[in-house]
Amino acid sequence: MRDRLARRLLDSKTPVAAAALVVVVVAAVIATRGLLFGPAQPEDIDARRNPFPPTADSLAIGERVYHADCQTCHGADGRGDGPQAAGMFPRPVDFWAHFGSGHTHPDGRLFFWITEGMPGTGMPGFRDELTDAERWHVVNYIKTFAPVDR
Ligand code: HEC
Repeated sequence: MRDRLARRLLDSKTPVAAAALVVVVVAAVIATRGLLFGPAQPEDIDARRNPFPPTADSLAIGERVYHADCQTCHGADGRGDGPQAAGMFPRPVDFWAHFGSGHTHPDGRLFFWITEGMPGTGMPGFRDELTDAERWHVVNYIKTFAPVDR
């Protein structure tokens, strides 16, 4: 009699336990998804407009930022051959090959990558090192490497 009662109690708890487990697993995935998949991408990433037109002033700031923070990997001429690039996989992007022939990514996406980095690669995020404006200016600057799209 007591056995039956215990079993019934247990049975009735099984769905509750299963539901609790699902909740815990889902919560764990949500909590760690930044580590697993990188930061969530905002929906409008490609639509975000660069607030700065590529004026001489903007390009001058972008160039300064680039030489301070990017050329060690991406190379002085944007060829992906900076001193830190050796042995890196994947290689830092060659901005000439990559950005030519109309294949340049939208500014909003470049800005997002420069801000958050690219998980699983050597590309670091510069959210804390550079201001929003500096990141938009460097977007303008790296686009000048492309032989087309100038
Ligand atoms: C420590 C090395 C390193 C530094 C420093 C670095 N990058 Fe990168 N970057 C990489 C690597 C490696 C990749 C390649 C990722 C890939 O192939 O998916 C990359 C990719 C990129 C991309 C993506 C290009 C594309 O179209 O896929 C952009 C844009 C970029 N970097 C811009 C910058 C800028 C701007 C800076 C400086 C503010 C910078 N990077 C600093 C290593 C670096």
